[in-house]
Amino acid sequence: MATVDEHYRTHLAPVYAWMAGGVDAAVARGESEIAAILPDLSAGGSAVDLGAGFGMHTIPLGRRGCAVLAVDSCSLLLEQLMRQSTGLPIKAVVGEILSFRRYMDSGTDAILCMGDTLAHLPDTASVLELFALAAESLRPGGKFIATFRDYTSPLVGPARFIPVKSDADRIMTCFLEYAPGTVDVHDIIHERTGSNWQQQVSVYRKLRLAPHWVAAALQERRLSVRTEPGLAGMVRVVAAKA
Ligand SMILES: C[S@@+](CC[C@H](N)C(=O)[O-])C[C@H]1O[C@@H](n2cnc3c(N)ncnc32)[C@H](O)[C@@H]1O
Repeated sequence: MATVDEHYRTHLAPVYAWMAGGVDAAVARGESEIAAILPDLSAGGSAVDLGAGFGMHTIPLGRRGCAVLAVDSCSLLLEQLMRQSTGLPIKAVVGEILSFRRYMDSGTDAILCMGDTLAHLPDTASVLELFALAAESLRPGGKFIATFRDYTSPLVGPARFIPVKSDADRIMTCFLEYAPGTVDVHDIIHERTGSNWQQQVSVYRKLRLAPHWVAAALQERRLSVRTEPGLAGMVRVVAAKA
């Protein structure tokens, strides 16, 4: 099984923007999500985007004039982010999300962990550690926002094969294999070269996080929490510091 870093570096990162429907379309979706969850954050404010990828949320925040620290372990995705953000107040750091405080000078108004990044952490103790660090790093009134997939009810049989994206030259399918507490995610890519199709498969492990467990853990950090539907079938948790 691949580590998260290997899976992104060798398999997902080269096709990630394609999988998301293109950078511009994804950034437009990110812009709508930011408008819904952080309507007032703009110039003079600051944010941290954990697992920023190619910048679906970082770029809209930067365009508002907000100073953004974008942390991701995948250099290829961060290079894409930086190509899209010339002149914006964005600092991109290749690093581990649990180390984000190392790159901060002071408290921040918002910490985002979007697109199922939380589920990439190795265990629930790491998720709790991230919540503790986030709660400490927010300014009063600041928000921690996470979106993630609810994998608590296992899919069975053919429903475990999920068509992700396809066009004339590439097909991406995801196969899920459930275990207690975790799910092994097999990302299967078929690519056409001339008249031949080639298959590449890589598998990595994600956590099965229950929304009520995430909400309760954030409440224990004295954050007030609301849970709501996010984009693309994800759960969104918005946790505010008093
Ligand atoms: C599913 S993508 C989400 C990207 C982006 N937040 C979005 O919503 O489009 C997860 C991202 O988190 C990064 N990532 C996963 N685990 C990480 C970790 N422990 N430290 C740093 N980055 C991590 C991956 O490299 C990837 O870019």
